[in-house]
Amino acid sequence: MDSHLPPIPITKPFFGDEEIDAIIKPLQTGWVVQGPFVEQFEKKFSNFTESVFSIATTSCTTALHLSVAMLGLKPGDEVIVPAFTWVSTANVVEYMGARPIFCDIDLSTLNIDSDQIASLVTTNTVGIIPVHLFGLCADMTPVMRIAEKHSLWIVEDAACAFGAWYYGKHAGTFGDTGCFSFHPRKSITTGEGGMLTTQSSSMGQLACSLRDHGASRTDLERHAGRYGFLLAEYEHLGYNYRMTDLQAAVGSVQMDRATTILESRQQQARRYDQLLSDYDWVRIPRVMENYIHGYQSYVTLFQPEEPSLKNVDRLYSQRNSVMADLEAKGIATRQGTHSPVIQTYYAEKYGLMPEQFPNAYIADRLTLALPMYVQLKEEEQDRVCQELSKAVNR
Ligand SMILES: Cc1ncc(COP(=O)(O)O)c(C=O)c1O
Repeated sequence: MDSHLPPIPITKPFFGDEEIDAIIKPLQTGWVVQGPFVEQFEKKFSNFTESVFSIATTSCTTALHLSVAMLGLKPGDEVIVPAFTWVSTANVVEYMGARPIFCDIDLSTLNIDSDQIASLVTTNTVGIIPVHLFGLCADMTPVMRIAEKHSLWIVEDAACAFGAWYYGKHAGTFGDTGCFSFHPRKSITTGEGGMLTTQSSSMGQLACSLRDHGASRTDLERHAGRYGFLLAEYEHLGYNYRMTDLQAAVGSVQMDRATTILESRQQQARRYDQLLSDYDWVRIPRVMENYIHGYQSYVTLFQPEEPSLKNVDRLYSQRNSVMADLEAKGIATRQGTHSPVIQTYYAEKYGLMPEQFPNAYIADRLTLALPMYVQLKEEEQDRVCQELSKAVNR
C-alpha cells in the first residue's frame, strides 16, 4: 500500500457497546439457540418491514432453500431467476433437482428485465425468484402480473433489501416469501443469518417447523409448557436452519439502530451521487420514483464508453486496473456481484454463453462498488472519489 492514510475498507459492521452487552445475555442464561432473543429479533423485523411473519434462519440461502422446499419445488420444474445475482439464488433451485432458467437483467437497474420474463415461461415453469439487488427493488408490478397470469409462485430474494421499499411496501412482502441476509456485507448484520418473511400463516407455520427439523413445536414452547419432557412430533422432512440466540441478540440491537444505519447510507449515497455527477465514465445507481433504495452497496457501472459485448472485455481490464490502483492506495472496491451463468457449474451443466445474457455479462465485468458504512467520513468519501478519478485518468 503506497499511502500513509488509513485504509478504507469496502464495509464495516456498525456495532457498539449495546451489541456487546446483548451478546452476553444468552451466555448468562444458557439459552443460546432459537430462544427468546430469536423471538425478539423476529418481532422487531416484522414491525419494521410490516410483514405478518418473520422467521429467522441461518442465512438468506437457507431461507431461500426453505421457501422453495415449502413450495414443493421438484425435479423437472423450472424457476426463472436473474442472470446477475449471487449464485445461491440459482443454487437453491438446483438443491431441489429443479432447473434455474436465467433471465437477463435491465442494465439501468441491474435487476431482472421484466420484459423478458414472459418469453421464458414454459409448461414446466412453477415460480420466479426476483432479486432486489444491492437494495433496489425489482419492478414487482409486472413480475406479479406474469406470476398471476401463469399461476407461478414468487420468492423474493431480498438478501440485500433491508430498508428497500417499492410503492410504499417493504421488499419481501410481495411474494409468497421474502428472504433476507445478515451477512456482514449487509446493512445490518448478525455475522451469518437470514430472515424469511411471509404473509401467509400456513407458510409461516411450515417455515417454523422446517427450519427446526420439521418439529411440531419449538424447544421454547416445549420448555414453557407442560410435558416438556416429551420431544416434539416430526411431521415433515425438515432441516436444521435455526439461528442462535447469540446472533439474534446482536440482530435485535441492530434493529434498534436500523433507522440510523439506513439514513446514514442514504446520506452517503446522495453524497457519492453528487461527487460523481461530473464524471461521464461512471454511472451512478438509478432510483426511480416510488422506490426507496436500501443501499446495501453503492454500485456504479464503469463505462468510459457505451458498454457492449464488443468492448466489454477491454473495459473489464481497464476497470480492474482502476480497482488495483485504488487498492494500492488503501481503498477497497468490489465488483457488484457476479453472473451465475458464467460460473463453471452453470456454464458447463447448461452450456450457457455470456452472449445469451449480454447485460448480465456487462454488469459482471463492469460494476464497481464503492466503500459504504456508517463510520465512513465525508473526507474519506472525498478521497475515494478523488483517487477514483485519478486512477481513471492515469
Ligand atoms: C442476491 C443475494 N442472494 C443471496 C445471498 C446469500 O445470502 P447469505 O450469504 O446470507 O446466504 C446473497 C449474499 O450476498 C445475495 O447477495
